[in-house]
Amino acid sequence: MTPGRGGFLCFLCFLALNAAVQCVASLNGEHADSFLGNFPNPLKGLFNDKDDSHQPVAKFSLRSPSHPEDDLCYVVPGRPDSLAACTFNSTSKTFVVIHGWTLSGVFESWMTKLVAALYEREQTANVIVVDWLSTAQNHYVVAAQNTKAVGQEVARFIDWIEETTNMPLKNIHLIGYSLGAHVAGFAGSHATNKVGRITGLDPAGPDFEGEHAHRRLSPDDAHFVDVLHTYTRGSLGLSIGIQQPVGHVDIYPNGGSFQPGCNLRGALEMIAKFGIFAITEAVKCEHERSIHLFIDSLLNEQEVAKAYRCGSNDMFNRGMCLSCRKSRCNTVGYNISKVRKPRNVQMYTKTRASMPFRVYHYQLKIHFTSRVNRSEMEPSITVSLYGTKGEAENLELQLREKIATNKTHSFLLVTEKDIGDLLMLKFKWEETNGWSASNMLKVVSSWWSGDSDSSNMEVHKIRIRAGETQQKMVFCVKDPEAKSLTQQVTFVKCKARGGQTPKKIQKE
Ligand SMILES: *[C@@H]1O[C@H](CO)[C@@H](O)[C@H](O)[C@H]1NC(C)=O
Ligand SMILES: *[C@@H]1O[C@H](CO)[C@@H](O)[C@H](O)[C@H]1NC(C)=O
Ligand SMILES: *[C@@H]1O[C@H](CO)[C@@H](O)[C@H](O)[C@H]1NC(C)=O
Ligand SMILES: *[C@@H]1O[C@H](CO)[C@@H](O)[C@H](O)[C@H]1NC(C)=O
Repeated sequence: MTPGRGGFLCFLCFLALNAAVQCVASLNGEHADSFLGNFPNPLKGLFNDKDDSHQPVAKFSLRSPSHPEDDLCYVVPGRPDSLAACTFNSTSKTFVVIHGWTLSGVFESWMTKLVAALYEREQTANVIVVDWLSTAQNHYVVAAQNTKAVGQEVARFIDWIEETTNMPLKNIHLIGYSLGAHVAGFAGSHATNKVGRITGLDPAGPDFEGEHAHRRLSPDDAHFVDVLHTYTRGSLGLSIGIQQPVGHVDIYPNGGSFQPGCNLRGALEMIAKFGIFAITEAVKCEHERSIHLFIDSLLNEQEVAKAYRCGSNDMFNRGMCLSCRKSRCNTVGYNISKVRKPRNVQMYTKTRASMPFRVYHYQLKIHFTSRVNRSEMEPSITVSLYGTKGEAENLELQLREKIATNKTHSFLLVTEKDIGDLLMLKFKWEETNGWSASNMLKVVSSWWSGDSDSSNMEVHKIRIRAGETQQKMVFCVKDPEAKSLTQQVTFVKCKARGGQTPKKIQKE
């Protein structure tokens, strides 16, 4: 076991202790038996019995739209009467929701929200909650090792449903969170026929990252596998959410890490307020964000967020991937198009801090010119956008590199609200880190030569691509006299004269 992983277990144990749950593993977990002795017998049996006569580890609760929070009726494999008793609708879609690792041993509050949102979107659906809490409430490694056994049990359940009701498996959609995503993967791969879809909500990383496809969620497990990654931080093997793509389409909202509204400052404030317990909350916030993004997509069907295929998060952050050609963009969450390519597709999107999470993405391509060669510039650039439906003012452009003279730079800009078709923009440039010595020399020499304005950067045009509408536009300086950037400059759509048709602004 690597020291890094031991560190991670330490961290989990720390969380576990804080939640007042027994955490009896030796921190480096040398041998499973050293802690199994402390757990109740049914679990111990699970590990030690090599025969097949283990007790069921999962229960299947068919929740109802009127009581999404309660387990009132269990469907019991082998007992067809339980299907009728729970009013299972065999011609409808069936969602199978699978929770992850748990400290508390009870369903977390997201479960009710997800069940209610599924019924809100698909009124006649069957929403079945898989309860494997007793096994999931364990040392993480133990719970992780059990995902296969639980998955096999879910597979037997699916096989039985198919045999008993003749339900086509394309109607089955497994939704698994954290460890539950891998349970869904095992369920899919062990079911006799392929299920329609598996959605992995921030599939767990530790013990699964870098593993063979048979030992984790993978595209082989269902006709379509889509994944949301929201907590992929740290080096390989240490991230709470799996970093590698594991589905047909893997979406990394906000790069798969640092979700807005879950920031460290927020966490520190929480710790100040609520003590060290708050760390659990901070971790959960980003991991669980995957679920809330999915719930958002169920509830706000008119405000679906878009994700864009991109070679890297860095390129996405420069606005270079907002194309929708050849299914390069897709819908985040429930209504995703089931695009299956031979190779996995990685997509990116930005989000707001709360529901509805969607934002509007823009690429700005700006050519900075100056008569003197200036270098090492890291100005603060703010842009205000004015559209037919509203405006978004003082948005700061994130600089991913230093601004160079006579070079075109590409930026990503997002607005939280829909401003409609873009009519005008204002652009402001401010030097932040003072003057470098060489720049100072140039200013002095240009002043000496009587050309006081020559050190100023100028921008003549700004090319814009809107991700959500796929519109391309070119903006020109409104008042040509004011194109130096010492103060705010206004840009309007370029007059449609020769050469003003938007050129291709992005390398595909
Ligand atoms: C079962 O589902 C189908 C379609 O999904 C629907 O038309 C039908 O009314 C449902 N039956 C019941 C009893 O709710
Ligand atoms: C779902 O996506 C399809 C295209 O993939 C689209 O035609 C349909 O309108 C979408 N449904 C909703 C409710 O947005
Ligand atoms: C400007 O600076 C760059 C890099 O420092 C250099 O490659 C280029 O030749 C310079 N151009 C002029 C006109 O001085
Ligand atoms: C930048 O380009 C402009 C116009 O092409 C030219 O006049 C100017 O000398 C260039 N500046 C540098 C530093 O090369």
